[in-house]
Amino acid sequence: MAEPLLQVRNITKRFGKLVAVDDLNLEVRAGEVIGLLGVNGAGKTTVMNMILGLTIPNEGTITVFGRDLQKHRIDILKRTNFCTTYANLPSNLKVWQNLRVFAGLYGIKNPVDKIEELLDMLGISHLRESITGRLSAGEGTRVNLAKALLNDPELLLLDEPTASLDPDIADKVRKLVLRLQRERSPAILYTSHNMKDIEEVCDRILFLHEGRILAEGTAEEIKERFAGKDLDEVFIKVARNEVQALQI
Ligand SMILES: Nc1ncnc2c1ncn2[C@@H]1O[C@H](COP(=O)(O)OP(=O)(O)O)[C@@H](O)[C@H]1O
Ligand SMILES: [Mg+2]
Repeated sequence: MAEPLLQVRNITKRFGKLVAVDDLNLEVRAGEVIGLLGVNGAGKTTVMNMILGLTIPNEGTITVFGRDLQKHRIDILKRTNFCTTYANLPSNLKVWQNLRVFAGLYGIKNPVDKIEELLDMLGISHLRESITGRLSAGEGTRVNLAKALLNDPELLLLDEPTASLDPDIADKVRKLVLRLQRERSPAILYTSHNMKDIEEVCDRILFLHEGRILAEGTAEEIKERFAGKDLDEVFIKVARNEVQALQI
């Protein structure tokens, strides 16, 4: 099997007394979409922030493209990108201006062509001249995704990309992620508390609760393990603490 592009080894992150991430391990290979599933506060964003080097773990190591994140952060981040619904792009700029700025930061050759290609791929060419701050949630997410794809990332972190989207747009975003996986095979780490998202998009799921992995496997394996008829039922049981942490 190919070497994982992302290897997270025994990372722990504490905020004061709170253990937000507790001795977590994960690996993602090229072409794989790994889902981090968990309730609000489970630690999903903290994991992503550590992989982006925005938060430093108290313990553990993160290796990306076979290199230590702490030592090679700049080089690693050139080949990585992320999309989150919560971090908005500068709101007073037009969509194309925002993408131009980020294309410049990533040193993209032929930025105009690249931006047009991505706007077309995401079905948002008509938003080119729109003011970013006035976009709807669904439009904003797709502009964020365009930003996240500017540098053709080999590692892509998607933090709740379908949060606050209506079912139609959420479906489009899921289809887009699947298309990306088919056409460009990046390693993708995908967080969500939306079961449908995770079942449709992810090859493997890590079920995170209070910073720890409760279970790991395909959606089918996890449903079987927690005796839930679907992932929603498993999720509710976990959220209400009706299941004990399982050793994996
Ligand atoms: N900068 C921070 N300072 C203090 N506590 C934090 C900070 N960031 C996250 N937390 C806490 O860590 C826990 C995990 O948060 P987070 O990773 O954002 O969860 P999720 O993304 O799964 O909703 C939560 O209890 C949250 O309040
Ligand atoms: Mg989060």
